[in-house]
Amino acid sequence: MLPQEIIKAKRDGKTLSAEQIQFFVKGITGGGVTEGQIAAFAMAVYFNGMAMPERVALTEAMMNSGSVLNWDHFNLQGPIVDKHSTGGVSDSVSLMLGPMVAACGGYVPMIAGRGLGHTGGTLDKFESIPGYNIQPDQDDFQRIVKEIGVAIIGQTAHIAPADKRFYSIRDVTATVDSIPLITASILSKKLSAGLEALVMDVKTGNGAFMTDLDKSRALASSIVEVANGAGVNTSALITDMNQALGDTAGNATEMREAVEYLIGKRRNPRLHEVTMALCAQMLLRSGLAQSKDEADGKLQDALNSGRAAEIFGKMVHALGGPADFVESYERYLPKAPVIVPVFADTPGYVSHVATRELGLVVVSLGGGRTNPSDSIDHAVGLSDIAPIGSFVDHDRPLAMIHARDEAAAAMASVELKASIGMSESLPQLDPVVYEILTKDSI
Ligand code: URA
Repeated sequence: MLPQEIIKAKRDGKTLSAEQIQFFVKGITGGGVTEGQIAAFAMAVYFNGMAMPERVALTEAMMNSGSVLNWDHFNLQGPIVDKHSTGGVSDSVSLMLGPMVAACGGYVPMIAGRGLGHTGGTLDKFESIPGYNIQPDQDDFQRIVKEIGVAIIGQTAHIAPADKRFYSIRDVTATVDSIPLITASILSKKLSAGLEALVMDVKTGNGAFMTDLDKSRALASSIVEVANGAGVNTSALITDMNQALGDTAGNATEMREAVEYLIGKRRNPRLHEVTMALCAQMLLRSGLAQSKDEADGKLQDALNSGRAAEIFGKMVHALGGPADFVESYERYLPKAPVIVPVFADTPGYVSHVATRELGLVVVSLGGGRTNPSDSIDHAVGLSDIAPIGSFVDHDRPLAMIHARDEAAAAMASVELKASIGMSESLPQLDPVVYEILTKDSI
């Protein structure tokens, strides 16, 4: 087999065999195919697409280019299940979802990512906890998942190395935006945790990776079909990202919101709806519940009984954080020196949010990154973000800014105001969950 023959077949619109795809992916990892050949292959897929069996083969080949967790000898008493989100602003769902599903009998080995650009990253949020180690060795990771039910950690170089090289070439050859390639890229990394079930949160709207509903649906449906084709019971939700999901954006600010959600101090209704809907799908897909009502009942009980909060605390401690983090989070989370309200110029209803720009306010405060190697300030960000439909005036701010100094707060205040549109009457509200796609519904 020659790489150029495989590229030619894809260029001419042919369907590749699993053997051809495996050969090409081995070349990506081992260096047998050149950067130019990878770029040409990506462009051929970009224009001619891939049939579902090709997408499954590409996903599996990229997943098998690295280590895949094996749980056989752990004798787990429940299913191994996870969630992945395409990313957004104020999306702290993973922080609560992992412990909630663990409290219902699932095992959640969550390998999470960092924030880049306007979107936040779960790992950065956890790094606002002193001592939390996002890079335990594999034995510790699996032991913590077995003992506690959940561990949320970072990606290692052993996970899907083919995707790492492939993605870096796609990134500079205008070929990221291809549904078959995105599907294989996301799933090759996610499925390497040895999952039995998965739920995918595909965000849609002006703060999402896919801004348009039809494209979000195409990605969601591709992921559901390919993951099920790879033997993992998977469904997808399409959820709204036309505004911040919760009350806060940033790292320590979102961590504070997550702990307060788990202990029942406050639950933003939109964040609660998305969290519950994703958790319910995880219970349904993994057989921990037979109906949506049963799933909701179990999840509410996991919250009300304090079990989910307790599991969160145990996970934090097992990964090096303080033993009393849940009880004393205010003592441990870093606080910004300047915390100021931003008021609208005239009273009215919040009617529109430029969500990407809102996320970029956090970046300009220092809480996000524009390059993967940037360091970040965990204390800064936003809280009390006014949702669409809320009335704001000189008492109710658009948000509170948490900044390192007055100058940063003043700049963020201008950017924040520019990202929010106002109206005199109550605007129409978008749904929070647009669609649920399962293998039987697509
Ligand atoms: N996220 C990924 O992990 N891969 C892609 O190709 C796009 C988004």
